[in-house]
Parts: sequence; structure tokens; C-alpha cells
Amino acid sequence: MEEKKYRKDVQKAQKGLQTLVVRKFEPADNLKVQQIFYDGMIERVVDTAFRGLRHHPESLLLYTAMTAVCFVVTKSWWVIGLLPAIILYGRYFCSRRMIQRYLECAMTRDMKDIEGFYMKSPNSCMWVAVLEGKVVGMVATVSQPKPGGAVELRRMSVDRSCRRCGVGVALGQKLVEFAVTNRYSSVVLGTSAYSPAAHKLYQRLGFQSVGFTNGYVTPGIRQSLLEQIFYRVRHHHYELNVQNSKMTTKLK
Ligand SMILES: CC(C)(COP(=O)(O)OP(=O)(O)OC[C@H]1O[C@@H](n2cnc3c(N)ncnc32)[C@H](O)[C@@H]1OP(=O)(O)O)[C@@H](O)C(=O)NCCC(=O)NCCS
Repeated sequence: MEEKKYRKDVQKAQKGLQTLVVRKFEPADNLKVQQIFYDGMIERVVDTAFRGLRHHPESLLLYTAMTAVCFVVTKSWWVIGLLPAIILYGRYFCSRRMIQRYLECAMTRDMKDIEGFYMKSPNSCMWVAVLEGKVVGMVATVSQPKPGGAVELRRMSVDRSCRRCGVGVALGQKLVEFAVTNRYSSVVLGTSAYSPAAHKLYQRLGFQSVGFTNGYVTPGIRQSLLEQIFYRVRHHHYELNVQNSKMTTKLK
């Protein structure tokens, strides 16, 4: 099954994407890379606010309780009728604020100086996917400080116009190749995405889900009470053991 998928990737690359190249980041890619990263993250706002609701029964319970309290206090059907719209707006507003804060954080850390952060050490790297001469995707890695020799996959994003063409898989395979070549034991990642695209991509690359953190908040970001009510995400953890995976043995 895994072998069949692997062959499908190779065929895809050979037929449709002959001009797709995955190479290391260069300073001239900076603007395009930042734009792809920003666009990918901003897409999350709607996803987190609306799609995410289905995954959090505890939030639905809280909103129902809020509605009941409002009814008891106001005895007004108008308020009850308006409450779902207010809640959805609150979720959208808080998701936007939290994701913008996350972006600001990234822009003051690794994304501010990509060359300095990822390209100076042999334990980190950023790659870009170039299609027809244009940068259309990115992924980065850093080695984790904890023992066991894992590298972290981060900043995976593909330009909207080039999705479902195998760009994400090509970027992921490049990173796995890096992990194999440098003898790391595994590749780990965390994602708060609710869209199936990210999860399917990682599963396609051979990653296994190893759990999740409910109510995850990015380290260094503080949440107000309002944000705690309207922004609640589940952070999924994935791992790929590069020493045992069938897909990675082909790369060795
Ligand atoms: C997630 C993302 C990187 C995928 O990139 P991509 O180039 O479209 O991925 P690929 O074309 O290589 O797709 C690989 C597999 O993922 C799955 N997949 C990708 N997009 C999908 C979608 N919209 N719905 C369902 N499955 C999807 C499919 O199984 C696909 O294989 P197939 O086309 O052979 O069926 C891209 O959608 C993206 O940039 N999203 C916004 C940023 C983001 O969420 N990044 C992840 C952060 S953790």
C-alpha cells in the first residue's frame, strides 16, 4: 500500500511536475516565502473559527450554557436569536487576533531572519519548491534539543494556486531525506490545522498521530478570558520514525 503511494508520487513528479525543483532557501526568496507563510496562516482563521467548532463539544456546551444564562437574565427572545451570530463573530474575531499574534511572533523570530535562523547551522534548514521558476512552497526544520535525535518539521505551506500537485509531498520528502542523511531518529511536528489537507499530507508521508493537546496555546502568547472562550484549538502531534519507515528505507 505504502509502496503503491510512493510510486504514485514518483509518477506524479515525472509526468506533471517536471519543472518542480526543491532547493535550499536563498535570500532572494525572502519576500515570496514570507507571503506564502502569511497566506497559509491567515487561511486558518476561518477554519479555526468555524470548522474547529465541530471538534470541541466542550465549547458548544459552554455556548449553550451562556445562552441559557442570557435567557434567564434578559428573558428576551431577541437576545437568544442574536446570540449564535455574536458567538460566531466572537470566534472569528478571536481566531484572527490569535493567529495574527502568532504571525507577529514568528516574524520577530525565525521568519525575520530566515538565513540566520535556518541556513547557518547544519542542524536546521529551509527548502523552497520552485515550479516554472516561481517559488510556490516552503518547509523548514530544526533539530530538537531533547535526546533521541529528532528533527522538527515546521512552516510547511504551499501557494494556493499550486495545491494538490504534489508540492507538499515533494517538500516533505526533502525534509525526510535530510533526516535520513543526517542520521536523525525521527521527524516530529505539531499542527493546529482543522482542514484535512495538512493531516492527509502528513499521513501520506508516513507520519503517525501520537496524540493531541486540547486548548493549546503557542508558547509565549497570552490569552485574555474572551480569547479563552472563543479560541480553543487542538494541537495534533505527529511523528515519523525515519529509521524504520518503509518509505524512508527507499531513501537510504
Ligand atoms: C497542507 C498543504 C501544505 C498541502 O500542500 P499540497 O501541495 O496541496 O499537498 P500535495 O499536493 O502534496 O498533497 C499530498 C496529499 O495530501 C492530501 N491533500 C492535500 N490537499 C488536500 C485537500 N484539500 N483535501 C484532502 N486531502 C488533501 C492528499 O492525500 C494528497 O495526495 P493526493 O493528491 O495524491 O490524493 C497546503 O494545503 C497548505 O499550504 N495549506 C495551508 C498551510 C497549512 O495548513 N500548512 C500546514 C501547517 S501544519
